[in-house]
Amino acid sequence: MDLERRRIEAKWIAAEYRQRARGRWFLRKVKAVGRKAIVLGSPTVDATDLEVGDDFKVWSGHRTTLISGWGRMRIGDRVFINCGSVVISVLEITIGDDVALANEVYVMDSNSHGVEGRPHVEAPVRIGDGTWVGARAMILPGVTIGKRVVVAAGAVVTRDVPDDSLVAGNPARVVRTLEYPPGCRRAWHDEFGCPCPKLVAADPVVPSVELLPPDGLAPPEELTA
Ligand SMILES: CC(C)(COP(=O)(O)OP(=O)(O)OC[C@H]1O[C@@H](n2cnc3c(N)ncnc32)[C@H](O)[C@@H]1OP(=O)(O)O)[C@@H](O)C(=O)NCCC(=O)NCCS
Repeated sequence: MDLERRRIEAKWIAAEYRQRARGRWFLRKVKAVGRKAIVLGSPTVDATDLEVGDDFKVWSGHRTTLISGWGRMRIGDRVFINCGSVVISVLEITIGDDVALANEVYVMDSNSHGVEGRPHVEAPVRIGDGTWVGARAMILPGVTIGKRVVVAAGAVVTRDVPDDSLVAGNPARVVRTLEYPPGCRRAWHDEFGCPCPKLVAADPVVPSVELLPPDGLAPPEELTA
């Protein structure tokens, strides 16, 4: 193995180690966390009835990511929540496996205020496996989004969305039905961890993941000071 590659891998391993340590620290109030949670930046995660699966990834950069509320929140395996997203539950929010929320996505199961003196709407929100929610999209109370859906950037989703469809606009409408290669499990792809069989076969093995100790990482010193 050449020196340059070793250098890159060492950097990658160190970064992952730091992000896993941050994961343990910033997700410390979560009821149950699966293997390998990774956090970049400093999100606020204080939801009181939250369980997340394996390989949870949260980024919080230009804006703080907020995962909060007292409702029941269940998040599956290999879910990615990007910078500035807001997920607040007072009732029930379910996010399936392999879901990605892009920057500044808003997911809430309550309107907080009623219209014309009526009680405000509170209704469960569900986001199906493999769905990709684009930047600044909003998912409103009571919406069920199917599997492998693409929600286009800026869409305001007010009604249920069927599996394998692309929705866009305000209010979001189905633009077209999506077709995926056999075995493809998610609407979004990245260079690592994509679970579709064809891509897993083609992906390089990520060396750092198995080298890192799974347990016992202390929070970084700068966070406990
Ligand atoms: C949906 C998206 C992926 C484009 O997918 P695509 O298959 O290339 O779709 P097209 O560009 O062919 O658009 C299909 C139709 O949807 C419309 N459309 C696409 N994105 C839209 C959007 N964000 N809002 C409103 N309409 C949109 C197009 O205008 C087009 O309409 P038309 O058929 O009347 O011309 C892209 O527009 C998008 O929203 N990307 C979000 C990226 C993002 O958030 N990344 C964050 C990093 S995780």
